[in-house]
Amino acid sequence: MTPPPSQVVLVSGAAGGLGQSLVAELARSGHRVLAGWHRTPAPRAPDGVEPVALDVTSPASCQAAADQALARWGRIDAVIHAAGIARDALLARQSPDDWEAVFAVNLDGARHLGRATLPHLAAQGGGHWIGIGSHAGLAGSAGQTAYAASKAALQGLVLSWAREFGARNVRVNAVLPGVLPTPMTATLDAAVLRSYAEANLLGRINDPAEVARFIAFLLTTTNISGQSFSLDSRVHRWA
Ligand SMILES: NC(=O)c1ccc[n+]([C@@H]2O[C@H](COP(=O)([O-])OP(=O)(O)OC[C@H]3O[C@@H](n4cnc5c(N)ncnc54)[C@H](OP(=O)(O)O)[C@@H]3O)[C@@H](O)[C@H]2O)c1
Repeated sequence: MTPPPSQVVLVSGAAGGLGQSLVAELARSGHRVLAGWHRTPAPRAPDGVEPVALDVTSPASCQAAADQALARWGRIDAVIHAAGIARDALLARQSPDDWEAVFAVNLDGARHLGRATLPHLAAQGGGHWIGIGSHAGLAGSAGQTAYAASKAALQGLVLSWAREFGARNVRVNAVLPGVLPTPMTATLDAAVLRSYAEANLLGRINDPAEVARFIAFLLTTTNISGQSFSLDSRVHRWA
């Protein structure tokens, strides 16, 4: 089974640090990209890229984005949920609003985007659905309870959808991109960023362009589902 060389890919969080790299790499690979931007408008779109306003906390907005892809190209081959937020605080200082906001984007956003897109992928004979997870969801992270818990839950969602949609050839995977130099980490203290780099065997954090190349490769595969790919050099027990 060979995947179509030019796929229709819907990306949430497309104007973010990772999102921009994804859109550029997917367009360079010849895919047609519906680039979902939120508050920050998408930068000038290269050929094959169509911007769409997308708030993943809104089921209607997710449905409208899916409808736009279908109206424009008649299909959706892949969805990448790259939208994500962090509202870091130690437990005693964690506000209920922040907790809810993080889950609304990272987890419920995935659910809304999945509801709007997975039935199409299944009906047309298959496709890819990729959730961008985080190492924090596997290992925990002091001061990041909401973020880590939402990303851990995203792992459960991905594994469950992989089981639910496998029979219809929809491949559902998680990509854990490693620490990236994007707006999400821009306000972190230099010492904190350094400690993240030092936790990696290679002594460095990752690069959004490398993550984008990995995901573009994943879209060329046909036999991989229910997996979680950690793109850094932090080592954990194997089972
Ligand atoms: N950076 C890291 O070190 C790192 C590490 C592990 C995992 N990740 C994950 O990688 C993904 C991309 O993060 P990033 O580093 O590229 O962060 P980023 O630059 O802050 O991008 C996040 C994007 O999500 C969008 N977004 C926020 N709320 C949204 C909503 N309600 N609907 C749709 N989009 C929304 C933001 O748009 P607006 O700004 O316009 O609201 C922004 O474009 C996230 O899932 C993040 O959790 C990042």
